Amino acid sequence: MLPLTLPGGTLITLVGAPGSGKSTFAAHYPGPWRVCLDTYRQLATNDESNQTATPVAAQIQDLLVDARLARGLTTLIDSTNVYAHTRAGLLARARYWQRPAVAVLFDVPLDTTLAQNRARARVVPPDVVRDLHHLLPAPEQLKSEGFETVYRISDVALPTIG
Ligand SMILES: Nc1ncnc2c1ncn2[C@@H]1O[C@H](COP(=O)(O)OP(=O)(O)OP(=O)(O)O)[C@@H](O)[C@H]1O
Ligand SMILES: [Mg+2]
Repeated sequence: MLPLTLPGGTLITLVGAPGSGKSTFAAHYPGPWRVCLDTYRQLATNDESNQTATPVAAQIQDLLVDARLARGLTTLIDSTNVYAHTRAGLLARARYWQRPAVAVLFDVPLDTTLAQNRARARVVPPDVVRDLHHLLPAPEQLKSEGFETVYRISDVALPTIG
């Protein structure tokens, strides 16, 4: 997998089901770029899967996204982001701070996603993976929402920009 080279100050939104490889991709980039709900759920409850902590994790994420975009720092959202309303909130923040918004779509086949999920330490219930995979938007949908560039992880030759 080739990591993308992105212009400074970009908001990069990863979009993909659990197990599709978002965090593995994010690990190609500097650690401070990464904003991740799992991390904040874990900090709040000792358990990254504890969904009762999602509201507080989302608040922490919003604070960090604003703090970083205000300073023109590239920021990478490592969450599923399969719901349009979640992406709308992120796009609104990028617009507010006048930063480019880019999406990376993890259009990994369901079978591959399920197999990757099964093989790792933190296994998400397969039904959840299936449901979220079915919600994956098309690249055209992401463009119409306002993402200036949409990369598909399935593309063999990932373009390099910036
Ligand atoms: N391109 C790849 N080829 C093969 N295995 C991969 C690839 N990308 C990720 N994996 C493996 O798949 C598993 C899931 O990857 P990862 O944890 O990055 O998914 P994720 O999208 O971040 O999931 P979650 O939303 O639950 O955090 C890991 O064990 C990882 O090593
Ligand atoms: Mg992850």
